[in-house]
Amino acid sequence: MLRDVRAVGTALREERYSSLEALFSDDELIELRREAELRALDARPWSSTGYSVSRKGRLDSPRRHRTGESGPRLRELHEGRPLGDFLSEAVGAAMFPTRAAYLYYRPGDHVGLHTDVDVCELTLVVNVEGDTGPLVLHPDLRGVTGDSLRALSEATNGFPAGGLPQPLPHGGAPALLGSSVPHHRPPVTTPSTIATLCYSGIA
Ligand SMILES: [Fe+2]
Repeated sequence: MLRDVRAVGTALREERYSSLEALFSDDELIELRREAELRALDARPWSSTGYSVSRKGRLDSPRRHRTGESGPRLRELHEGRPLGDFLSEAVGAAMFPTRAAYLYYRPGDHVGLHTDVDVCELTLVVNVEGDTGPLVLHPDLRGVTGDSLRALSEATNGFPAGGLPQPLPHGGAPALLGSSVPHHRPPVTTPSTIATLCYSGIA
């Protein structure tokens, strides 16, 4: 089901991101969609308007969306051998699943420039329902200090110009070194749901 492991590995090493094709079948996507709809009943609003830098230099910017917990089907896919083995082979290290969640967007919801939490060394973003539009990556900002990132984010309301818009391919996912590559999601225009799948093991 997964091909081009070498190309994915090279892209992750050299570009810090890649695009994974054909991760999930249509049947699996339907199952994820059903599960996401159930999880939406208990989803929690996540809204913040401030900018902050953690002691480790992780940036957070304003965001607004809802978050739902993973369920059995997402867990199965996230923690299953096929995906874990593929990612481990691509990266050249034993990757292990750390967290997965559903994120729900309504029109106007957004996630300003940020880096993911430590356990998301590698982050996969899967379109589950609707169309969130592209995720915008800023690999050129990797290594910039947290304070400088914060200043840039504040000056641009969380949406700096430039960056590399990554579409969410049907059944696939952009993969990025989420805890080190800054990224943002511009305001979405239609209701949509994604799943985020995080892995560690690179460091
Ligand atoms: Fe993120």
